[in-house]
Amino acid sequence: MYDFAADANLPKPELYSALARAADALVQGEPDPIANMANLAAVIWQFVPDLNWAGFYRTVEDELVLGPFIGKPACIRIPFGRGVCGTAASLGATQVVPDVHAFPGHIACDAYSRSELVVPVLRDGRVIAVIDLDSPTPGRFDEEDAAGMQLVAQVASLAI
Ligand code: SME
Repeated sequence: MYDFAADANLPKPELYSALARAADALVQGEPDPIANMANLAAVIWQFVPDLNWAGFYRTVEDELVLGPFIGKPACIRIPFGRGVCGTAASLGATQVVPDVHAFPGHIACDAYSRSELVVPVLRDGRVIAVIDLDSPTPGRFDEEDAAGMQLVAQVASLAI
């Protein structure tokens, strides 16, 4: 059994370093990428408050394909350059979107999503996946969330 204590009242840097430590512990010694993505999505969901979707899109050939996640069923394939996920993947750069309705080409998977954070997972300079977080709260994510989720993406980079 894994029983990580997630304290949503911690300041964000501490919350995310606790999340990154938990994420690292979860994937230790496990080579299966699907199992690791599934547990990483679950631990993100456990630690990060105010989300309605959290999970992975993986790079498969020249597009993103849905991976393990927590939330409502989502669109399966996203071309590079499309939506927030495809933009993060094609630029290899984190996207913090305070208002998804104002993001050109945003792909609506869950009508409750109002803001979004997408962090690329890089290996050897290639985007192998993105981690996508959606929130029902406008402006939910800031640079501290982005920096924190980049720590989780570094864990994922070695585990998926
Ligand atoms: N909103 C994303 C699509 C994925 S869902 O949010 C789960 C986008 O614009 O890329």
